[in-house]
Amino acid sequence: MKTMMRQVRLNNGGWMPVVGLGTYSSENDRETTQQAVLMALKEGYRHFDTAKIYGSEPALGNALRNAIADGVIEREDIFVTSKLWGTDHHDPVSALKETLQNLGLEYVDLYLVHWPVKLKPGALNLLPSEEDFDELDLETTWFGMEKCLEMGLCRCIGVSNFSSKKIQQLVHFASVPPAVNQVEMHPMWRQRKLREVCQKHNVHISAYSPLGAPGSFWGSNAVLDHPILKSIALKHNATPAQVALAWGLAEGSSVIVKSFDQRRMKENIGALQLTLDDSDILKVQNIEEWKMMRGEVFVNETTSPYKTVQDLWDDEI
Ligand SMILES: NC(=O)c1ccc[n+]([C@@H]2O[C@H](COP(=O)([O-])OP(=O)(O)OC[C@H]3O[C@@H](n4cnc5c(N)ncnc54)[C@H](OP(=O)(O)O)[C@@H]3O)[C@@H](O)[C@H]2O)c1
Repeated sequence: MKTMMRQVRLNNGGWMPVVGLGTYSSENDRETTQQAVLMALKEGYRHFDTAKIYGSEPALGNALRNAIADGVIEREDIFVTSKLWGTDHHDPVSALKETLQNLGLEYVDLYLVHWPVKLKPGALNLLPSEEDFDELDLETTWFGMEKCLEMGLCRCIGVSNFSSKKIQQLVHFASVPPAVNQVEMHPMWRQRKLREVCQKHNVHISAYSPLGAPGSFWGSNAVLDHPILKSIALKHNATPAQVALAWGLAEGSSVIVKSFDQRRMKENIGALQLTLDDSDILKVQNIEEWKMMRGEVFVNETTSPYKTVQDLWDDEI
């Protein structure tokens, strides 16, 4: 029997499935991504996370459109997130139209400002160089995001990698508040302060790299190998990955987890069946913290608004 997907209500009144499938993979192999999405649909995933910079929009869109055409799902049953890259801050409407073309869909459910970083229009590049930076103007960027919403290109708008301070600044000038802040969050980076601020402003926290991104250039096996997670897993006859995900869910966030392997996909969605008790939560609270995605690529002393990593995260690091 497939796990029924739990959902969370966002501040725009819409619903979002609490477990999402991440589609970033450094290989970015179209066929593999497409097969993985079809597999995920079979395993009960209904929420898919992509971004223009990942290059996974065409494969994700193909798989979803095929599944819709085959009657496996209806568009209304799935939740698709994509993100605005820095080079597109000057024109979110055109960027989202391009994303929709890549996906072959009429709208995305959620469109996020990927980073609080504005880059000069140009080639998509995960590693911008000094001359690529432009002056950050979040108010104008957010106005463009609101325009996307008004035009029906997305169902809700949000941000990603925003600190408490930036969330507070944004809600101050926004006509439409962000529905979501997608940030790194796992048992070794718990985001306590950010979660308090977001809760106060009714902004849902969605956790990326919820397993600590093992195998990626910024991540580590530290979360899955942590002795405390292993001991909690043993107690519940679960796996450390399930404990990490169940922890995020118990803390009220959604989790965006990437696996293109059917066994691990099944394992990950199985976290919905795992309930941690108070003593487990307390143990996790005492784990040493480690932020893995530090965003050094967006820091430089000359052209970036962020001279240090501390500036980028407003000292929440
Ligand atoms: N907004 C942002 O700036 C941002 C940043 C980073 C990520 N994201 C999004 O969040 C998604 C997930 O984050 P992530 O990919 O960084 O990290 P993650 O989901 O924490 O970890 C993914 C890695 O863990 C492996 N894995 C998955 N399930 C496992 C399990 N049960 N046991 C052991 N290993 C397992 C995967 O390999 P296999 O595929 O081989 O299973 C993959 O190498 C991304 O794909 C992306 O969509 C957003």
